[in-house]
Amino acid sequence: MADLWKYTLSELDLTAEDGIAVEACIRSQWLSMGPKTQEFEATFADMVDAKHAIAVSNGTAALHLALASVGVGSSPDDEIIQPAINFVAAANMTCALGATPVFADSISFIDPTIDPKEIKAKITDRTKAVVVMHFGGYACQMDEIKSICSEHEIALIEDACHAPCQPYSGKLGGHLGTIGEIGCFSFFSNKNMTTAEGGMVVTNDDEHAEKIRRMRSHGMTTLSWDRHHGRPSTYDVVMHGFNYRIDDLRASLGVSQLSRLLENNEKRRERMQEYAGAAAALASNEVQFIFGDRPKDGTGHVAGVIVPIQKRDAARLKLSELRIQTSLHYPPIHKFSAFERFSSAQLPIAEEFARSMITLPMHANLNKGAPTEIINSLNECLKAA
Ligand SMILES: Cc1ncc(COP(=O)(O)O)c(C=O)c1O
Repeated sequence: MADLWKYTLSELDLTAEDGIAVEACIRSQWLSMGPKTQEFEATFADMVDAKHAIAVSNGTAALHLALASVGVGSSPDDEIIQPAINFVAAANMTCALGATPVFADSISFIDPTIDPKEIKAKITDRTKAVVVMHFGGYACQMDEIKSICSEHEIALIEDACHAPCQPYSGKLGGHLGTIGEIGCFSFFSNKNMTTAEGGMVVTNDDEHAEKIRRMRSHGMTTLSWDRHHGRPSTYDVVMHGFNYRIDDLRASLGVSQLSRLLENNEKRRERMQEYAGAAAALASNEVQFIFGDRPKDGTGHVAGVIVPIQKRDAARLKLSELRIQTSLHYPPIHKFSAFERFSSAQLPIAEEFARSMITLPMHANLNKGAPTEIINSLNECLKAA
């Protein structure tokens, strides 16, 4: 990969300590969910100041469990308001539960998070929940969104997959993922911290925590680890559930990764600031850096720019010729084939955003100076496009 790209989109931050942590788990002879998972959960809960953290097999499982726990799917009429600009996981889990996604528009091109005004306008008596997504680890307008959801007694779920351990600078304070009823995180390999595949659900609500723990493991009342230790030797199945368990191998990696997460988030923020400054310094005005007005206020998971639509694809091609890898976050969900029945939704900002954005390289080990070089290269590519 290093040979193919001069600047890769994302890069793993794996150290010798991570390897030692995983090896220690192998030596312990206990690989499935057990003491390391408990340590991972307790450390994560402590870092985001949540009462409960429940580790699961991936971020999509976290969203599935969160939606199920707030009762999504108990009526075939359930509607879930959520952003059109998001990874497809929340929308897929909404449909898997037999509910209907109601897509909402973004605030603006430089703040693609869900617009609270759209949430307000789309609430009906069928709305069961709102899912927000902290794009790139930058907070949605949670003060306003929480107050809308409280007023209408609608569950609020946070897709915080891009935002592990990000403090919220709004009035409500706390950490992203802990402001709504339930928060969901992903530890997929391109995330700010990884367990290869993995996820976490956080909540301050005891009932949700108990339900989600049960649903994570088939609705069973005990785990193998408990039974192995003779407490107790049998179990009941008290509700329908899934196998969304993580394992101690990945939890060991998670604990080790967590020890560097805050430092790595800060490194990303510094690169975001450099990107924002380099984009603002261009004379052409053709590059707007997403969250360029608050680059240090998020986890820096995604470095995105807005460029003129008619030049976007040619500029991406030219960047790849310069061995600078790019991507797109995200195609709007209502335009995917499987969501065709929603394709006529009026979401002008989301649609134009998706046609004009480019995701640029970002990871904790991106060199100082690289963002400036990448923005200047993009500017040259735009001139030639
Ligand atoms: C915003 C967002 N939501 C949900 C997910 C799903 O997480 P996972 O891939 O761990 O299932 C991802 C990550 O891929 C994501 O970026």
